[in-house]
Parts: sequence; C-alpha cells; structure tokens
Amino acid sequence: MYFQQRKGSCQRQLISNQFVKAYDIISITLLACLLSTFTYAGDDATSTASQLSEPFVDQTTGLEMERFFGARTSFGFGFALPAANTTSTSFIGQMTFPLKAGLGWGAMGLTGDMEGNFILAAWPDGKGGVMASFRQATDEDNPPEVTGSFAVRPIPDGTVVNATSLSYTFLCENCLDPTLGLSLDTTGNAVMGWALSEKAPLGDATDVGARLDFHERGFGPFTARLGAAKSQKFDAIAATALGPVAASSKAVAAVPGAAGGDSDDDDDDDDDDDDKETSSEGGDDSDDEDD
Ligand code: HEM
Repeated sequence: MYFQQRKGSCQRQLISNQFVKAYDIISITLLACLLSTFTYAGDDATSTASQLSEPFVDQTTGLEMERFFGARTSFGFGFALPAANTTSTSFIGQMTFPLKAGLGWGAMGLTGDMEGNFILAAWPDGKGGVMASFRQATDEDNPPEVTGSFAVRPIPDGTVVNATSLSYTFLCENCLDPTLGLSLDTTGNAVMGWALSEKAPLGDATDVGARLDFHERGFGPFTARLGAAKSQKFDAIAATALGPVAASSKAVAAVPGAAGGDSDDDDDDDDDDDDKETSSEGGDDSDDEDD
C-alpha cells in the first residue's frame, strides 16, 4: 500500500517534473521568439503607409524638413524641397540610422515595397566616409546598381559616421521621377519606403556597387508629405553639395515603369510599432526600443 502510494506520488512527481520541463522549454522558446522580433523585423514590415512624415528641423544645417522616423529601429529619413519651385524633381534628403560596431546599411525607396523599387542606399566605407548607391529592385534577390538622369551629391555638413550611427545628407537630383515609381496624390503625399540592415555590404565596402543583402533590421512603407516639405533654406544648402557620386562599372540603366502598382494600401495587419511614436524634433535616437 505504502509502496503503491510512493509509486503513485513518484509518477505524479515525474509527470509534474516533465510538465515543468516542457513548460520551461515552451516558455523559453516563446521568450526567445519574442526577443528576436524586437531585434529583427524578419519578413514583416515594421511600418505602415499610415505613418505620415512630420515637420523636423535638422540641427546641423538648420534645414526645415519633413521626416519619417521609425521609433522601433531609429531609422530616420528627412526630406526638403525648394520653397519657390513647385515642379522640382530634386530634393535634399537625410538618412540617419544606427550601426552595429560600425557596420550596416540603410536605404530609402520611391515606393513602399520591394517590387521594382527605385532605391538609394548608404553605408560606411570603413574609412570614415559614407558610400551612396542607387539600386532598382528589378531583381529582388539582389537589386542591381543603376544609373540614369538622377544623381546623388553629398552635403558634407550633415554627413557623419561613427561606430554606432550614420547620417547621410544629400542632394538627390532628378530623383522624384514617376517613371521610377514615385506616385504623388493630389495632396502632395507619396508612399515611400525604407530599409535597414546591421550587416556590412558583401565584399568590399568601398565598392559603390557592393552587393547588399536583406534588410533584417527593418523595412516598410510610410507616407511622405512631399507637398509640405518646402524649405526656404533649400537653395543655400543645396549649393553646398559636392559633385555627383560616381557609379561603379557594374551599374546598369534604370528601367522605367519597373515599380509595382499597389504599394500604398494594405499593411494594416503588420506590426506597426513604428507607427506610434516619433522622436522630438532634432532627436535622432531617443525612442529606440530594441538596441
Ligand atoms: C538596397 C536596398 C535593398 C536591398 C538590397 C533589398 C534586398 C532585399 C532582398 C534580398 C529581399 C529578398 C529576401 C528573401 O527573399 O529572402 C528583399 C525583400 C523585400 N524587400 Fe527589400 N531590399 C532593399 C530595399 C527595400 C526597400 C527600400 C523596401 C521598401 C519598403 C523593401 C521592401 C522589401 C519587401 C516588402 C520584401 C519582401 C517581399 C518581396 O520580396 O517583394 N526593400 N529585399
């Protein structure tokens, strides 16, 4: 009787131990998954088109801009257009994003998803400078470097890189091109995109045509209020831009009409952490939750 009771109690203990172990394993797995979603965006966009850019003043140049800021990743993309010229196809842009041990790349795109997107990517050259390269997602596994009538010209005042972050300020000439995907609505808004990786380009970081892999740190659409981005200081600051960045010998001609048509709707089911918070003006990294 006693032995039967002991046996029963041992079995219960064993079952309960096994249950605790299984419970622990499940909890740890769930926790690991949860933590990894904070660090890596995976395949889901981390912003939605419902996040509008907001007024922002760049502290270095004093330029008034509109800016998208992803609170979860600290990826920022500011932009300004000339105050007087209503048909400008050029803008001043500023990408700010975190690096890990001095490595990573960031990108902005004319549309909100990958298909055929026209993209400007930037990354550290490893020697204190910043590389910039136009890509077009005609091949979504490896968007080729492209050339065309557009050009990127660095603005030294707002361009700085260190081990933890990069700021690239530039004049993007002839970049606002509907044939490359820009889709302005009647209010002057356009759904654009961004992407972020903490990995160095594959191969040589000083090669402007270096292959860039997936943007595992985050990506997604947002709505750029281009119509509200006119800035009195545009001309003065644009005048400080250096000469155009040369493309590599790998670059191919950009393909007009390559961008997909339906980037600016859906995504409401996506993780919208980047929707909720925007940093205060002038702050770059204040709302970072995951680094
Ligand atoms: C130079 C910049 C970029 C590079 C090198 C790049 C690279 C890639 C690669 C390699 C994939 C395929 C991943 C896979 O199949 O496992 C991918 C997917 C994706 N990318 Fe990008 N990307 C860039 C910019 C962007 C931008 C600006 C957006 C805008 C939001 C974007 C949105 C997406 C989306 C939605 C997917 C998944 C769906 C799809 O393949 O169409 N990417 N990207």
